[in-house]
Amino acid sequence: MTQTVLITGTGRPYALGFNLVKRYLENGDRVFASVRRPSEALEGLKKEYPGVLHILNMDIASTASVSAAAAECSKLTDSLDLIINNATTASADTMKELPDFDLDLVAPAVNVGAVGPIRVLKAFLPLLKKSAIGALVVNISSEAGSIGKCYRTFYLDYGTEKAALNMLTMTMHNYFRDDPNLNIICLHPGWIRTNPGNNEAPLIPYEHAETLRILFEKKRHDKNGPVFITWTGESYPW
Ligand SMILES: NC(=O)c1ccc[n+]([C@@H]2O[C@H](COP(=O)([O-])OP(=O)(O)OC[C@H]3O[C@@H](n4cnc5c(N)ncnc54)[C@H](OP(=O)(O)O)[C@@H]3O)[C@@H](O)[C@H]2O)c1
Repeated sequence: MTQTVLITGTGRPYALGFNLVKRYLENGDRVFASVRRPSEALEGLKKEYPGVLHILNMDIASTASVSAAAAECSKLTDSLDLIINNATTASADTMKELPDFDLDLVAPAVNVGAVGPIRVLKAFLPLLKKSAIGALVVNISSEAGSIGKCYRTFYLDYGTEKAALNMLTMTMHNYFRDDPNLNIICLHPGWIRTNPGNNEAPLIPYEHAETLRILFEKKRHDKNGPVFITWTGESYPW
């Protein structure tokens, strides 16, 4: 069974979004890959998959940009079966603690990392509603968004945006609870080698993208399962 997928934040060839795009294409799916600026890597992939990979320009910080991308997408497809809200941000101060952290950087990060995915959900909802196989929305969160497990004294922006994303995911999960055709979850994807300068992370993006692709298929109709999960499918503490 093939499907139509939207993935955000897909322009970096070493990162998770781009590798998810590759895996879905290799699986025979139709992919809408969003970027906020041109990506040579994605343009190259488009040449390999003409008519199957569509690149959307979308800045998830902007409601106007997300609405325009949804309108563009609607010209090319009647439905979406899966949205992976992968795009995220962290400020230059993210590793700093209170005395050195510019607190004015928290709200813009929350706007991208927490509100952005819900903007996408809202704008693309008419397409999700038309899925013939039941739609799934996966918001890529992080263990850094878990309040119960929080031990850090930094990540004032990133931790806050992911915690807010978790709350918004649960609220949306509740809102669509009685809709048998739409499930919404959030995921801690594990520590992935998406930073070219850091080889410590154990999970390789291209390999891990396939693990996640298979996991997401198990979650499509699992409306009563855990809502915040790890890459192994287990529940993660809020
Ligand atoms: N890597 C890990 O170990 C790890 C661990 C836990 C959770 N995660 C989560 O997994 C996901 C993927 O991680 P990653 O390391 O692959 O991410 P990444 O390399 O930081 O990539 C993030 C992507 O989001 C895009 N983006 C940023 N702001 C945007 C905006 N306003 N509108 C649209 N796109 C925007 C970036 O675009 P540009 O290229 O234009 O900047 C980039 O392509 C993220 O949600 C991250 O929080 C990752």
